[in-house]
Amino acid sequence: MSDSPFMRSVERRRPGSSMRAYVTRTLPHNSVIVVSNRGPHEPRPEGGFARGAGGVVTALLTLAEVMGADWVACARTEAERALVKEQGPTGMAPLISSQTQLHYVTPTPEQYDMYYSVISNPVLWFIQHYLWDLAHQPLINGRIHRAWRDGYVQVNKQVAQKVVDVGRQLPERPLVMVHDYQLYLVPQLVREQLPGAIIQHFIHIPWPTPQYWKVLPKEMRDAILRGLLGCDIVGFQSSLDVRNFLLTCEENSGLQVDIKERAVLLDGRIVYARHYPISIEVASTTRLAFSHGVMVEERKLRDWRPKYLIARVDRTDPSKNIVRGFLAYEKLLSHHPELRGEVQFWAFLQPSRQDVSVYRNYLRRVRQVALRINNQYGAKGWMPIRLEFGENVRKAMAALRNFDVLLVNPVYDGLNLVVKEGALVNRSEGVIVLSENAGAHEELQPHVLSINPFDIEATGQALYEGIVMGVAERRRRHEGARDVVRANDIARWITRQVQDIRDLVATPGLRAG
Ligand code: G6P
Repeated sequence: MSDSPFMRSVERRRPGSSMRAYVTRTLPHNSVIVVSNRGPHEPRPEGGFARGAGGVVTALLTLAEVMGADWVACARTEAERALVKEQGPTGMAPLISSQTQLHYVTPTPEQYDMYYSVISNPVLWFIQHYLWDLAHQPLINGRIHRAWRDGYVQVNKQVAQKVVDVGRQLPERPLVMVHDYQLYLVPQLVREQLPGAIIQHFIHIPWPTPQYWKVLPKEMRDAILRGLLGCDIVGFQSSLDVRNFLLTCEENSGLQVDIKERAVLLDGRIVYARHYPISIEVASTTRLAFSHGVMVEERKLRDWRPKYLIARVDRTDPSKNIVRGFLAYEKLLSHHPELRGEVQFWAFLQPSRQDVSVYRNYLRRVRQVALRINNQYGAKGWMPIRLEFGENVRKAMAALRNFDVLLVNPVYDGLNLVVKEGALVNRSEGVIVLSENAGAHEELQPHVLSINPFDIEATGQALYEGIVMGVAERRRRHEGARDVVRANDIARWITRQVQDIRDLVATPGLRAG
């Protein structure tokens, strides 16, 4: 490892070299390009780089490393645009130990804003997490139509063009792995220019029902499907997402779908839909959990730790359901006054997408509700909710190692990696209260307390059960959840995709089940 301050300023991940060898053996004739909106790292104002925010980037770092991939991403911020000006659009990716080159696409700030802050987050994210209050929202007006045309479509075209340019330089048949809802149009646009490429798109967020997609004007939802159907394989987090996708192709676009084969037939091509629940890297997460930085945070926590610690770690996203989580906790305090002064709810939150007004309003509401509950129930020396904001991964880890109850109650969530991290690193035999609408519920259900995320009474009751659960039962659930995560780690997420690419696409004649 380099000793330069630059390299020390970034966190490096080293997945097993055996995984890399496995990928090379399985797909010997492919050069890989990973494509995502966010790049793997972001220039820090004080110099050096930090890892890009969000669980998706963390997972993609491992993917790019293991696949020995090139990476195409958007220059999103002033700092990233300045970096491109200084070093050109292509450079080494300092967070990855293989020779990964990072290729930036540089939309104008206006294009990026329309693509990200008008279409991707307030519209697509909201549809895919069922967040609209349909009696009143959305208003699909001229602004949205313009942002679609001049922002979303334009940025997708630029990203696709970059992928094509990179793909043409590669020594072998390109395997293009596109990620998430910001880039739905890319597969088809790449297919037009690189017909021989293998293209996969992985969607990290839920795929809703055909009916809910109908909130979006037909030309937009058709373009999204057409874009995705440029793929060979479309990947999702859960089996329900796969079913909803196939139904959407059939019902909304009249396409020929084979539900049993989980495939769509289009222009003589087969597009497969498969689910691969994403995960975390067990070794590096465990290493981080035992690191000096986390121990320091745990020492600080010891100074104020209540008898019962309820925790949550989330981006301040309306889909995360933070406000209902507080209301459920309020129910706990009101039904069980004996717990007042003994329990504390530590919400460690990462402000997110503050360039989008719904997100700003949501953050305000989170603060207001926490403040109200603290004023109403707090007493001398006891604050019911400890609300903290920040991007500190060590502090987050300290919370996850020490909770007695972890609340993960999203309205809907593609998977939710916090719950997997919590299951892996917790050392207090903590109980997980998990929304039945989180993708991770499919894997973790036997080991968690399942809740309907809209039901604040039931959520409050689950928090209570988590607090009073006996030691043997806590241990049984804790070990069960931990073992699921250990068995289905990020390596499995990657190998299952690689196997399907080999069996369904790269080796003609073989068809996997
Ligand atoms: C989710 C999405 C990702 C996104 C991440 C962080 O995990 O699936 O695509 O990158 O949130 O959100 P942001 O908008 O800050 O990139």
